[in-house]
Amino acid sequence: MNILVTGGLGYIGSHTCIELINAGYHPIVFDNLSNAKKQVIDRIKTITGKEITFVEGDIRDESALSSLFEKYQFNCVIHFAGLKAVGESVQQPLKYYDVNVNGTLTLLRVMQHHNVYQLIFSSSATVYGIPDTVPIEESAPTGQTTNPYATSKYMVERVLEDTSASNPHWKFIILRYFNPVGAHQSGLIGEDPQGIPNNLMPFISQVAVGKRDKLSVYGNDYETKDGTGVRDYLHVVDLAKGHLSAVKYISTSKGTTAFNLGTGNGLSVLEVVEAFKEHNKVDIPYVITERRAGDIDSYYANNSKAKKLLNWQAELDLEDMVKDTWHWQSNNPNGYDE
Ligand code: NAD
Ligand code: WQD
Repeated sequence: MNILVTGGLGYIGSHTCIELINAGYHPIVFDNLSNAKKQVIDRIKTITGKEITFVEGDIRDESALSSLFEKYQFNCVIHFAGLKAVGESVQQPLKYYDVNVNGTLTLLRVMQHHNVYQLIFSSSATVYGIPDTVPIEESAPTGQTTNPYATSKYMVERVLEDTSASNPHWKFIILRYFNPVGAHQSGLIGEDPQGIPNNLMPFISQVAVGKRDKLSVYGNDYETKDGTGVRDYLHVVDLAKGHLSAVKYISTSKGTTAFNLGTGNGLSVLEVVEAFKEHNKVDIPYVITERRAGDIDSYYANNSKAKKLLNWQAELDLEDMVKDTWHWQSNNPNGYDE
């Protein structure tokens, strides 16, 4: 069964391709390489023993997408392609709305034209904005977003709801990821951020490998167990398996259905740092600094809907997350650049 995977050479997409291949699906990856390296293709082959089909192209290029849909018969689309840096989205909102919103509209038009009506969308827990309570349920209010990146995800969610309401052929699964971390157990693929990492786990692993002097812990005066921010860190392989569950579920679903993908456990910044040190036997020097603008104290999922309907739950724990991150980073100190 052919599955179109947009953005499939990226961090989450590449791990999802492996799970798809292992389950007997044939992923066809469409990616413009703006945040991915071609080396990923060979590494997926080393891990799975199978080739993925890769087509280079931009999600906003309607004619390139049309050619792809003419060449291959797709059963469903998993749509990862997009931009994800919160800070950059504040600086360059037009770019973010163009790629994330306009790109999705282009994809939907081409799908409709070729009678492909099933799409799984990479959304983000950030659509909940500042939640009233944690753990966060899917029914919590969305849309009170705090940056253009988050707003672009919310806008696409609304587009999907309106589109499926207009025509019962459409089936959309919205996956709201919490904080994906870790890497494939092989150590061959993982997160390869360009420049200074924005997110906690890649920053810690770059400190561990000696690329950064120390971690700045953004505030220890939050209303949390130890004063540092609490998040729902989720192993990327578990997240990838969540997409496999969604692929199996989508044909039986109706309209648009949203799921939280998270472990349901809140972990503090210092808990992650301590686990990284303990399990990998490395030092992580850190200093406590000011809070980062826009951060909130606690954010974690109620994941019972995914457990019930997708039959999915995270199986890997914090020890797996920090060990697999370090395995990838220590084997590939410069990411995919040899
Ligand atoms: P990533 O940057 O590693 O992967 C995105 C991929 O899309 C890259 O391979 C990139 O080259 C490609 N791409 C970007 N713009 C494109 C375009 N115009 N046309 C074609 N391809 C394009 O990011 P990721 O972490 O794997 O995230 C995948 C998706 O999940 C994104 O939509 C992201 O917003 C969403 N998401 C990520 C996180 C996270 O923390 N990583 C959390 C929630 C949601
Ligand atoms: C986690 C915790 C920081 C870096 C972001 C996006 C979100 C989603 C996932 C895409 C917080 C603290 C971090 C550092 C630190 N992405 N921290 N020092 O902010 O929960 O979510 O990534 O959809 O949209 O906003 O993740 O990893 O940046 O931060 O102390 O150098 O680590 O304050 O408490 P966040 P993060």
